[in-house]
Amino acid sequence: MAESVAFSVNADRKTLYNQVVPQIEALVSGEIDVTANLANTAAVLKEVFGFFWVGFYLKKQSHLVLGPFQGPVACTRIEPEQGVCGHAYSTRQVVVVPDVDLFPGHIACSSASLSEIVVPIFNNDGSVFGVLDVDSNKLSDFDQTDSEGLSRVVRIIERSIVSDLL
Ligand code: SME
Repeated sequence: MAESVAFSVNADRKTLYNQVVPQIEALVSGEIDVTANLANTAAVLKEVFGFFWVGFYLKKQSHLVLGPFQGPVACTRIEPEQGVCGHAYSTRQVVVVPDVDLFPGHIACSSASLSEIVVPIFNNDGSVFGVLDVDSNKLSDFDQTDSEGLSRVVRIIERSIVSDLL
């Protein structure tokens, strides 16, 4: 298993996603435990992109519950229709929010978080397993490149969920 991540420090995000996605694939394919894989994925994304907060909320009974993450302490429990995470969960779509103050119902875990992107993660049966939530301390920090790059990361995690259940 790889124990460090190699990336070009000053590269643009598209290049970074291209560098990092195969490394996440390699990390995740060496381990069947989903929690371990979510934890390492959050660590890689935080290290490579320097995002303010990177983590997972997982659907458990009636809530989205905080899972592995990197960054400041965060809210532990989100209603399935609440905030940006709940919106991504209930619409089953990637949600990009350029300014969280303009998003009705945004959950402000930290006032330093100014923009965010949330990507739903699907189980094999089509239900939503949880979401990948990435927050930035800059306005309008996420675009189509992040939507595509983080969706590639989430597809890797989805394959890992299936393996963990075997
Ligand atoms: N931003 C989320 C809440 C989670 S924290 O940002 C870590 C939301 O509004 O759904």
